[in-house]
Amino acid sequence: MLDRLKELGREARAALQSAATSVELENVRVKYLGRKSELNQVSRGLKDLESDERRSVGRAVNELKKELGALLEQSKKRLESAGDGSGGLDPTLPGRMPWVGGKHPLTRTYERLESIFRGLGFEVALGPHVEDDFHNFDALNIPADHPARDGWDTIYIDDDSLLRTHTSPVQIRVMESRKPPIRIIAPGRVYRNESADASHGSEFYQLEGLYVDRDVRFGELKGVLIRFMRELFGESVTLRFRAGFFPFTEPSTEVDVECLICQGTGCSVCSGTGWVELLGAGMVDPRVFEAVGYDPGEFTGYAFGLGVDRICMMMTGTDDIRLFLENDLRFLRQI
Ligand code: DAH
Repeated sequence: MLDRLKELGREARAALQSAATSVELENVRVKYLGRKSELNQVSRGLKDLESDERRSVGRAVNELKKELGALLEQSKKRLESAGDGSGGLDPTLPGRMPWVGGKHPLTRTYERLESIFRGLGFEVALGPHVEDDFHNFDALNIPADHPARDGWDTIYIDDDSLLRTHTSPVQIRVMESRKPPIRIIAPGRVYRNESADASHGSEFYQLEGLYVDRDVRFGELKGVLIRFMRELFGESVTLRFRAGFFPFTEPSTEVDVECLICQGTGCSVCSGTGWVELLGAGMVDPRVFEAVGYDPGEFTGYAFGLGVDRICMMMTGTDDIRLFLENDLRFLRQI
């Protein structure tokens, strides 16, 4: 037994001194000093030996363990100071996964809306963010000095240019540039001179819809909106059409969805009412057709405008609209 210990000692010393990297050294440690090492097994078998032998072997084992332990420390220091060629890298550690980027929840919501409306036959149209009074207001039957202008807290750039307060001016630009039939959606950012709170932002996203042709009826508007909402929120969604007023549509309606955050029982997102207003809509007012040179006797149409952020809130269970623009990664990663 003592001879075997001597031999083990020689092997271990040589191995410890020749280990060239920290990984190698660790392997040597496991082999000669680890739990399953021969030395440890001898240690554990001591109790079965005769008392004389137990004493001499026990002493030899302890001395060898001590010596090898010290050698191990020395070798560690040697590798640390010399640089073991691994640059301190331990390839046995688990890797660190890089964060994979993802689309912003508003982008994902918009893409979902676009795909539903494309499926219903709508094409995408875009317009400028810096608008003029004519497209943002006058042509939409909101003349200067009309009290309805107060409904849009406008950020003016100079006397005649402003940041669009809604996506409705894109309707006007599309109708100015082509003849019916027209079936478009116009998505994009809009701006209001409002102080932000949990359900209002000074910048947010809308999606406008417009359909113009001969003999377009209110029933088609309702049908398209119901189809859209069911595609988006599922067949069992509960909707409410209320009579509303917009200068550019007559008749007009506002459509609410039963709050998906609280299932209609009342929460901060629906201000305790159980309903969230998602869109405004109606039949295009004849004055709007006149402004773009269409004959209101020949064409009819419907329009709608919906709040993308509100829909995103419903879909993600987010109760503060401001989170969408703060780009706090902790929030974005949650979604
Ligand atoms: N432009 C309106 C707003 O910003 C939303 C809207 C309502 C658009 C009714 C429409 C519509 O096209 O028909 O509040």
